[in-house]
Amino acid sequence: MLVTIFGTGYVGLVQAAALADVGSDVVCVDVDAAKVERLRRGEVSIYEPGLEKLVRENSAAGRLRFTTDAAEGVQHGGLQFIAVGTPPDEDGSANLKYVLAVADAIAAHMEEHKTVVVKSTVPVGTGDKVRATIARRLRERGREDLTFDVASNPEFLKEGSAVADCRRPDRIIIGTDSAAAEEALRELYAPFNRNHEKIIVMGVRSAELTKYAANAMLAAKISFMNEMANLADRLGADIEHVRHGIGADPRIGYHFI
Ligand SMILES: NC(=O)c1ccc[n+]([C@@H]2O[C@H](COP(=O)([O-])OP(=O)(O)OC[C@H]3O[C@@H](n4cnc5c(N)ncnc54)[C@H](O)[C@@H]3O)[C@@H](O)[C@H]2O)c1
Repeated sequence: MLVTIFGTGYVGLVQAAALADVGSDVVCVDVDAAKVERLRRGEVSIYEPGLEKLVRENSAAGRLRFTTDAAEGVQHGGLQFIAVGTPPDEDGSANLKYVLAVADAIAAHMEEHKTVVVKSTVPVGTGDKVRATIARRLRERGREDLTFDVASNPEFLKEGSAVADCRRPDRIIIGTDSAAAEEALRELYAPFNRNHEKIIVMGVRSAELTKYAANAMLAAKISFMNEMANLADRLGADIEHVRHGIGADPRIGYHFI
């Protein structure tokens, strides 16, 4: 499938390489010209086991390309992924200016139907903002005739095992109310969905909340265990024994405690 990914950070680059490796034709767009230049030479500046090899092999095979030219990226993919950063603002809220800048660039250059897929971690309601941004720009261009879908497809990879997580995901969340977008994303992810059904389809807002809920639950588990470790120290208990004792309960489990 023809795919464009905006943002070649952890999420965008790993996703791009994993998709190219199963046969998609992927163009990556980034505003960082130096990074794009390095990626064109096959140099990956983050260390993730297996990533540089995947980038080099798939670039050599012609299935993975890098550009700073948004117009070229928009023209390429029927699926347009937004995987740019969402850094916290001073009040802790996610800064959406990069996400919405990409939405605007897609609308500025599109000449046919596009499915815009938000992979960045974003607060609930961002899908609506992306939709409004695209609609506004199309109106300004006098191109209300152009159609588009917006979907949410949050990422759950962990730094350090990003390639493995991306190639063997626990679940693939597709948030959309468009049957066509669902079908396109099901086709894209079919190679990662072979052994058992991992795709879970829901509305855009539910998908956005799923990512925040997962992050909050994992943070709560870690914080809880840190508190327990402090308590164990004060009480003369061994936190490792406590961890074993509570993790044996399948309702609790050993992960992240
Ligand atoms: N890193 C993780 O472990 C992880 C895991 C899950 C989800 N996420 C989420 O995924 C999103 C991306 O995270 P990341 O770690 O890959 O970010 P990152 O900061 O590593 O990379 C973001 C990239 O986007 C580029 N960019 C910014 N504006 C652009 C534009 N207008 N057009 C094209 N490229 C642009 C930047 O130059 C940069 O290369 C964030 O919302 C993050 O919260 C991250």
